[in-house]
Parts: sequence; C-alpha cells; structure tokens
Amino acid sequence: MSKFRMHVLVCGGTGCVSSDSMKIVENFKKQIKAAGLAEEVQVVATGCFGFCEKGPIVKIHPDNILYVEVKPEDTQEIVNEHCIKGRTVDRLLYVEPTFEQRISEHKDMPFYKKQLRVALRNCGAIDPENIEEYIAADGYQALGKILTDMTPAQVVDTVKLSGLRGRGGGGFPTGMKWDFASRYAADQKYVICNADEGDPGAFMDRSILEGDPHSVLEAMAIAGYAIGATKGYIYIRAEYPLAIKRLDIAIKQAYDYGLLGKDLFDSGFDFDIQLRFGAGAFVCGEETSLIKSIEGLRGEPTNKPPFPAEKGLWQKPTIVNNVETLANVPVIFLKGAEWFSSVGTAKSKGTKVFALAGKVNNVGLVEVPMGMTLREIIYDIGGGIKGGKQFKAVQTGGPSGGCITAANLDTPIDYDNLIAIGSMMGSGGMIVMDEDDCMVNIAKFYLEFTMEESCGKCTACRIGNKRLHEMLTRITEGKATPDCIEELKELSVIIKDTALCGLGQTSPNPVLSTINHFIDEYKAHVFEKRCPAGVCQALSVYTIIEDKCIGCTACARACPVKCISGSVKKPHVIDQSKCIKCGACLKACAFSAVDKK
Ligand SMILES: Cc1cc2nc3c(=O)[nH]c(=O)nc-3n(C[C@H](O)[C@H](O)[C@H](O)COP(=O)(O)O)c2cc1C
Ligand code: SF4
Ligand code: SF4
Ligand code: SF4
Repeated sequence: MSKFRMHVLVCGGTGCVSSDSMKIVENFKKQIKAAGLAEEVQVVATGCFGFCEKGPIVKIHPDNILYVEVKPEDTQEIVNEHCIKGRTVDRLLYVEPTFEQRISEHKDMPFYKKQLRVALRNCGAIDPENIEEYIAADGYQALGKILTDMTPAQVVDTVKLSGLRGRGGGGFPTGMKWDFASRYAADQKYVICNADEGDPGAFMDRSILEGDPHSVLEAMAIAGYAIGATKGYIYIRAEYPLAIKRLDIAIKQAYDYGLLGKDLFDSGFDFDIQLRFGAGAFVCGEETSLIKSIEGLRGEPTNKPPFPAEKGLWQKPTIVNNVETLANVPVIFLKGAEWFSSVGTAKSKGTKVFALAGKVNNVGLVEVPMGMTLREIIYDIGGGIKGGKQFKAVQTGGPSGGCITAANLDTPIDYDNLIAIGSMMGSGGMIVMDEDDCMVNIAKFYLEFTMEESCGKCTACRIGNKRLHEMLTRITEGKATPDCIEELKELSVIIKDTALCGLGQTSPNPVLSTINHFIDEYKAHVFEKRCPAGVCQALSVYTIIEDKCIGCTACARACPVKCISGSVKKPHVIDQSKCIKCGACLKACAFSAVDKK
C-alpha cells in the first residue's frame, strides 16, 4: 500500500508538457513541501490522459477528481483547497458543453464514459520513469508467470487464442506471426518494436511509450521467449525525444531490476533491448524498410516473401510488432486470452486507440472496444463537430486510408468493416472534417505527403504519385480538362497494382475514396471552376455587395494589388481581372460587405 494518502497526477505527455505541465509539477512539489504535506501527498508526472483538448490535466487520486486547463498559477489554490481542506476547486472542473454542467469525477465525463483503456491502461495512472510503479500495477507479472510456468508454444497459443491483431495498420494476427517465427530454426532471432509512427496526426504509439514504456519492454521479452529470440530493437523516430528519454530510463531500470539481461526470473532465458533511431521517413515504418534502416542501409522496402518472420534482420527470423500491439500483450496473460477475446467483434478483438483530430470538439487520444460506431466516437466521446457545423467525413487510416461519410457513421468499427466501407483501420489516425473542408484539397494534402515520402524505388509510386498530385493541383486551380477525373482514377488503379510496397499500393486511396463519395465536388471544380467549400483559393471569387458597402475604404487600403476602387462613402468595386484572391478585403471589411464564393 502506498504510504501517501493522496496523489496529484499531472499529465507529462508531450501535448501537456508543451503547455507548461512540468512547471505545474514543479510548483506542486514546492507548494506541497511548503505546506508540510510532502510525506502525505505525492506529485507524479504521468503519461497522457488522452483529453488533450483540455490539457494540461491534473487528477487527484483517490478522489478521482479531474482538473482541466490547469495553469502553473492554479497550483497553489489546488494545494490549499483540495490537498489541505479536501474541497474541490470548482472553477477548474470540466464543463460539459451540452448540459453546461461542471463534472468533477473522471468516470462521469462523456469523454471517458465509453472508453476502455487496455493498451493505455497505465497512461495517466503511473509515473513512467519509476519501474516500481509499473510493478505495483502488476507489471512484469505476466513475464514472470510465462517464464516460470509456460512453454514458448503455450505463449504463442495464448496470443493466438486472444485474437490479437497487429495495430500498426495491416491487422495481421499477432499469434500467427509469432508462430511462423518460432518455427524457423536459427542461431539468432530478433524482436523489433515498430515505433516509427509516421502517419500525419497519429500519436498513439508516442503516448504509450511516454506513459507506459515498461509495458512494451515486458511484451518484447514475452515475444522473445515465444519465438526463441534473445535480442530486441525498438525503432523509434528521433523526433520523439520525450518517449526516447522515458524508454532509456525504463530500459536502464529494467536491467537494474534483472527484468532485462541474463537469466530472467532464473529461467535461463536472456533478453536484451536496444534503441535505434529513425530520421523521420514515413517509408521506414514499413517493416522491410525499417529492417534495412536498422542494418545501417538505406531505408527502402524489399519484396515479400521472404517475410521477416523467415528472413528479417541480418537475414534472421524476426518479428516486427507495433507499439500498441505489444502494449496489449501483458494484459492477455494477466487477464486471460478469453477475457481479451470477449472484447470487440467476431474478427477484431480487444480495443483500438485512435488519435481523434480535426473538426471535433474533444481532440485527443481515445481507446474504445472494437465494434464501437464512428458516431459514438465522434459525438459521444468527441463531443461532436466544432462550432456546431455539419459533419462531412472522417478520414481513417491516414494517407493509406479513405474517407467515410455520414451514411456509414453507424457502422461498427473493426478491421473488416472499415475495408468494406472503403477505408481502413490504419494505425489509428482519425481526422474529422466538416462542411468547410474541400475534399479535393484533402486528397491533394494526403498525396503531397505520400509523394514526398515515396522512397523512389519503383516508378509507379515515384512518378505516378507526382502526376496524381499535379492533376489534383490543376483541379484545385481551375485548370483541369474535362477527362481528368477519369484519368485520376485510371492512374490510381495502375499505381495500386504495380507499386512495390504498402506506401505506393495505398497512396491513391484518398483520391479514389473522395472521388467515390464526393464526385459532385470534383465536378464542380472541373466543369464549373468552383470550389463548393470555398477552400481552393484560385477558384474563389471576391465581390463587394453594393447594398452593404458604406464606402469606408478599408478594403481598398488592404488590397495588396490595389484592384479595389470607389470614392469615400460610395460602394466599392473589385476589378476581377487584377484580383489575386488573397482574401485581405474580406478580413478588412467590418460590415460584411465582401462576399467570397
Ligand atoms: C508506408 C508504411 C508505413 C508504415 N509505418 C508503420 C509505423 O509507423 N508503425 C507500425 O507499427 N507499422 C507501420 N507500418 C506497418 C509495418 O510494415 C508492419 O506491418 C507493422 O509494424 C507490423 O506490426 P503489427 O503486426 O503489430 O501491426 C507501415 C507500413 C507501410 C506500408
Ligand atoms: S511503392 Fe513507393 S515507397 Fe514503396 S518501394 Fe515503391 S517507391 Fe518506395
Ligand atoms: S471595407 Fe467593406 S464597407 Fe468598407 S469599402 Fe470595403 S467593402 Fe465597403
Ligand atoms: S482578394 Fe485580395 S487582391 Fe482580390 S480584391 Fe480582395 S484584397 Fe484585393
């Protein structure tokens, strides 16, 4: 039992750290000490609570009170009122916008009510820099049980029975992958944790590593035992300095406690883990490319087969698993494969973590049982669309995925259903779009990303994506020819069919899915030279509404090309032939007299 009567848990994830949460920790420590409470109240910098929209978050345990948008200057009041007098600081509680009600208890907040935190179980609950807190939360118990009571084959069978599928994008059954690797005889095998996380907007893996690094180390050792590997590598992008720091600390502590290294739990099993840093290339998240990168070679994908389970790192049997996949593994052994497989849908077991972003009220990290509908995620957990605007689509699967429209908001989310409705699970990026988003522009955004990230090894991807991007650019600039939509589709299919790796094979997906769901928007751009959402600048037309214009001259003074004319107190006019569509007049007019179409 903890010697402390109270814990002040402060979010120490990257998002909250960038909003000064470490200053909050420092203040709490000083003020709690000054109040003579250092022996009773412990301050802990935890991992991400997920509710990034309202960060920095402070949770008081065991009272289960969550304070939101806490600033360093708020800490003294929390210490005086809550820690000393036991009174809640009402003004820092979350206000539920729908009911305009302050909610004090963590569990009553709509953002958390429908979530089930399995992979994120310790994020926001323990100090990720202290191995004892992980151990106190049953950490390393699964590894101990396995090494003392189970054979490698039993471990593989348990993971198979759980139904766990890879969370890195492909959804490949984890137990089956481990089974393949365990069957190849070799003097050396490897376990690789893929922490490259290159999808724009995704931060699930970073948050797990920042908030609960030991769960991944423990899972890697379990995987090592299962397949007969004694060495593990974590491939993490160098842009994740906080996750790297916490992993470094966790690895050192695990060695100090005899939980990594030689003869773990006196079982004769050895397991070592080292970090390898990626330089931020998206393609290096693809497993064969990642392996090349660890080998010190250029990060370019290779053909499969052979799969890494047969010939991976230095041609030895290797399993590559995603961070979130691994974070689930200890739970399977703690709670049982049956428990794990009781959560989720028939073919997708357990939970999935999503990075909910875009035009949604509660931006953040959410973990839900597979089978929850998009409507529940976006409206019940995400709090609906920002500013009361109309939902238009949600992109899942990042640059490899597709958009899902309102017609499919009630589809239960799992690997197979998402593919059936023209998207994919991907690693968990979920970007919500509203009526103000132009779908042609969205497709262009993703194409720009994949075009820049293509490694260039095969022509279809290297040149094909560039051509697709050029076509989309012409559409958004009103320069497209009438047959360009058909050309887009044709080239997309060729790229998908002929590219070597998953990057190229999926890069046209955002184009195809936006054409499929929003053909009218494409047609408006191509045939009417009009952007219905008013996003594509080159297609915008600015005019001055005569009845509303009072002739204040503000727009004329703001216009950089001086194409607005008119006398003082008389309606002004824009010379369309000279207008460069910069929007300065719209911003300058205080009388809503400038119209943009
Ligand atoms: C272009 C590309 C990028 C990828 N990036 C990642 C990544 O950042 N993290 C990841 O876990 N998997 C990524 N993958 C999938 C990996 O190749 C691999 O399937 C995955 O790491 C396997 O782990 P899992 O079975 O646990 O999902 C990527 C695949 C492609 C084609
Ligand atoms: S599909 Fe693209 S990223 Fe993949 S190997 Fe070919 S060029 Fe490289
Ligand atoms: S700023 Fe608005 S009101 Fe003033 S002259 Fe321009 S259009 Fe008219
Ligand atoms: S959009 Fe820019 S260039 Fe065009 S009239 Fe307005 S201020 Fe001038």
